[in-house]
Amino acid sequence: MNTLHGTFTQETNFFKGNDVFDLIKQYGSPLYIYNEDILRARCKEMKNLVTYSNFVPHYSIKANTNIHLLKIVHEEGLHADVMSPGEIYLALESGFKPEELFFIPNNVTPEDMQYAIDRGITTSIDSLDQLELYGELNPGGKVAIRFNPGVGAGHHEKVVTGGKKTKFGVNPEYIPEVKRILESYNLTLVGINQHIGSLFMDAAPYIESLSSILDIARQFDDLEFIDLGGGFGIPYHKQDGENRLDINALGEALNPVLEAFAEEYGKNIQFQIEPGRYIPCESCLLLGQVTATKTNADHNYLGCDIGFNTLQRPIMYDSHHDIEIYSKENKDATLAPLTVVGNICESGDILAKDRMLPASTSRGDLIAMMDAGAYGYSMASCYNQRFRPAEILICSDGSVKQIRKRDTFEDLIRNML
Ligand code: LLP
Repeated sequence: MNTLHGTFTQETNFFKGNDVFDLIKQYGSPLYIYNEDILRARCKEMKNLVTYSNFVPHYSIKANTNIHLLKIVHEEGLHADVMSPGEIYLALESGFKPEELFFIPNNVTPEDMQYAIDRGITTSIDSLDQLELYGELNPGGKVAIRFNPGVGAGHHEKVVTGGKKTKFGVNPEYIPEVKRILESYNLTLVGINQHIGSLFMDAAPYIESLSSILDIARQFDDLEFIDLGGGFGIPYHKQDGENRLDINALGEALNPVLEAFAEEYGKNIQFQIEPGRYIPCESCLLLGQVTATKTNADHNYLGCDIGFNTLQRPIMYDSHHDIEIYSKENKDATLAPLTVVGNICESGDILAKDRMLPASTSRGDLIAMMDAGAYGYSMASCYNQRFRPAEILICSDGSVKQIRKRDTFEDLIRNML
């Protein structure tokens, strides 16, 4: 196998000696491939973000819910945040204990809320209306509230969750109302949380949002934890030399603020964060086959079997994923602009527009969409009745473990009556 384009997998020894052509032959194409070492390294970075003693990172499992990966994250000592009964179920199946979970739903049904209450999982409420509902279902209970910090950040307007233009969180101006509802149902507010948005590469808005959540915290006496949210970005443009988010600088900025607040509040209150993407994203690539090349009106297309059903991010958010190309032959790597497209019957099925890739790339080569571990498989569908891919893990010792089967024809009719 020759790497015709890209260096990340070579630099990180990503495949640990396994041949990508063999992997595709054995597990089918496309194929999600994870690297255990990278996943564990990212968990450790989040675990050690600050030196403040009562700090617990919660992995936001919506980014990737494969049970085998969740077990690794749990082994690394992270807790988890969950958005639905389905995510609660998967987290519990993976070995997380109810007290290690934080349920952060929005606009849920009484049944969803009851599912968490029955399992003793701390729940964060996102509106006054749902706080009333929670009070009716669990009077005298403990509860958390998600506040809107008034600051937003993120890579696309669809993922900015703080600020005036989003549906999320309770506006701090409603705090008197919050207190009235807490009192009328005898609820204790044990936690508050926020999430400003997804994928910031500059920590400034995150740090800026701290003052608002801490101001809110000062207005409640019984807090056990404050959750600062997720959104920690990863460098999707590695091939253009994009820098990593400076985790050390972020930790150093957070530490004194957390220490000072704990002292002022008079207790060693727990601080939490909710990273989703940061944990699994770079540990994974989506590998597929180049199936056709063609020229249409002077535009050069590289067709492959990675449809937007298997990786939605480019079509959904115009997201960039670096691309690597592997070939059986040793070919000329001279670059030309190629538009990489999938196998779904929609003209929007574009993975990359006019990307500089080797002009020699041809049918039979393999293509990898990098940094596919977050919001990759978890957002995949079987649109066009294309199978969702298998997932495999390259373990630390170099062995390959299949962690999910590829869909089958039977799966397509499984729920039909
Ligand atoms: N906490 C809450 C309340 C959230 O809503 C989210 C993500 C997270 C934590 C984790 O955010 P992260 O650390 O992963 O940025 N599908 C989009 C991202 C949507 C994020 C939704 N909420 C994407 O592929 O970019």
